[in-house]
Amino acid sequence: MSGTIRVMFEPEGKAAFVLPGSLALEAAARAGIIIDTPCGGRGTCGKCRVAVRDGCSPVNATERRILKPRDLAAGLRLACQARLLHDTTVTVPDASRFFEQRILTTGVHRATRLCPAVAKRAVRAPEPSLDAPRSDADRVLDALGGDGLRLDLGALRQLPAALRATDHHLTAVLHGGDVIALEPGDTAGRLFGVAFDIGTTTVVGSLLDLATGHEAAIAARTNPQVSYGDDVVARITYASEGDGLRELQAKIVECVNDILAELAAKAAVPAEAIYEMTMVGNTTMNHLLLALDPRHVAQIPFPAAVRGAVVVPAADLGIAIHPCGRLYTMPNIAGFVGGDTVGVILAADLPTRRKPTLAVDIGTNGEMVLGTRQRLVACSTAAGPAFEGARIRFGMRAADGAIEQVRFGDDVETSTIGDSAPRGLCGSALIDAVAELLRAGILDPSGRLRGPGELPRKLPRALRRRVVPGERGNDFILAHQAETSLGSPILLTQGDIRQVQLAKGAIRAGIEVLKKQFDVDDAGIDAILLAGGFGNFIRRRNALRIGLLPPVEHERIHFIGNAALVGAKMVLACTGYRAQADAASRETEYLELGGLPDFQHHFAEAMLFPESE
Ligand code: FES
Repeated sequence: MSGTIRVMFEPEGKAAFVLPGSLALEAAARAGIIIDTPCGGRGTCGKCRVAVRDGCSPVNATERRILKPRDLAAGLRLACQARLLHDTTVTVPDASRFFEQRILTTGVHRATRLCPAVAKRAVRAPEPSLDAPRSDADRVLDALGGDGLRLDLGALRQLPAALRATDHHLTAVLHGGDVIALEPGDTAGRLFGVAFDIGTTTVVGSLLDLATGHEAAIAARTNPQVSYGDDVVARITYASEGDGLRELQAKIVECVNDILAELAAKAAVPAEAIYEMTMVGNTTMNHLLLALDPRHVAQIPFPAAVRGAVVVPAADLGIAIHPCGRLYTMPNIAGFVGGDTVGVILAADLPTRRKPTLAVDIGTNGEMVLGTRQRLVACSTAAGPAFEGARIRFGMRAADGAIEQVRFGDDVETSTIGDSAPRGLCGSALIDAVAELLRAGILDPSGRLRGPGELPRKLPRALRRRVVPGERGNDFILAHQAETSLGSPILLTQGDIRQVQLAKGAIRAGIEVLKKQFDVDDAGIDAILLAGGFGNFIRRRNALRIGLLPPVEHERIHFIGNAALVGAKMVLACTGYRAQADAASRETEYLELGGLPDFQHHFAEAMLFPESE
């Protein structure tokens, strides 16, 4: 290809053709290789290391700051900084890859009434005659009981052929007062819809048989937008420049269509039999799917372009369901609390709770809602990065090779996803490790890792030997070099502990601010519901030990799975829930924590670890 350079990616042996000057990161995405970018390509995390053979821009100041001289000598570069100038070969090590994350597709079960927005009605229309030469449309509308019904242009175009294909016996597909499609014969028993949870990191689709209410198939993918940054702020920044919005929208639509194709194949249901899609997502994901400019969401006072539900022809966005099918997006609450939180509110049935109930969704952000049937208050904190592996020296997402569980006995015991040699640790292991370090007395409540000379006398020798001096304070060896796939030990550093304090401090402070709104203490919270991928893999005892959650009995903490998706399925199966969703979106009060002095005060307190269990 003229004007482009050829970049070969190893070990896959995949080639990408890009313009000279493209970042190695962009070229990798072009080759279908997703590099982990926890800092969104800002050049601060050092996770995107790749080896570039030659033909590359000179090492810049950012790379010099992050990479050690021996890394540079070995040809390692940061994929978010290195620009490719000539044909070259790039090797992407396992440790730099964004492996498919363990994706949570199931959630709390809600018995749902079946009254979908889309419905089918089979009718036999009278034939035209010379005595009554009425139009096809008039005869079909009469047969349907006509009043107030309209035929969409798409349906009108299908009408003459559909009517005559099966002797004037056909099935109308209705959406509200519109006939959106016509099918020859009686197909009333065959009606499908699809519910999507579009998260910042993962996308899950569920195909529902709307005639029976059963889930026919489920499929999930990593959100391909992660190549453009792993948090909403990075995506908004990208969308605000040049063609960024169009590019990000195309990526998510491609992903949705991939999932639709998988669902259709799994359930042996043609995509044309799917007449409606519902979607939940945070406000930024909602705007990016609809191609709405999200830039103001990131600017004080953080207004969304739209709060309410949007209903549009899915084909207008390039979504490959029936060409006349509709898309419904769950209403948002505010700029940083979106339709996914409304989904959690519906799934957890918060608007009917008599006693204060707290729902916490720890994803890339932490969203919290506390309330009763009288009042709901929501807030959001930037809590996720540490628990998703970002800014943690050996942190990674919950994918193959991640230590997911840590327990201390006479020594450290760990279990790893995929049962392979560990290459990092994910959020649940991070919480386990910090809790165990506190119990063992290796970590003090201020968050300082004690030095070898300050450790408790009774500490087993094997644990004692894992405490080593680090670059800033002490480190703890979670896995020895011989046990890992990295060729180096996996450490928990003093800096990592600080990141955990920041993340858990933000979530806990948000909870404390919400409690104050209701004037309740810990005993006054009837239940804590943990939603989202991360929330479902943490161990309650350890989350309590580090002070992530208020000290309540274990029995009051419940896991509710991917509750946002459950909410999307509810509004798909029954339009009645759409009114509830709208009410929740309008009536849930949003608290902007950044502007509250109270939050800063609680945050400072919540940074500390509890003195005891
Ligand atoms: S340093 Fe490149 S993505 Fe963070």
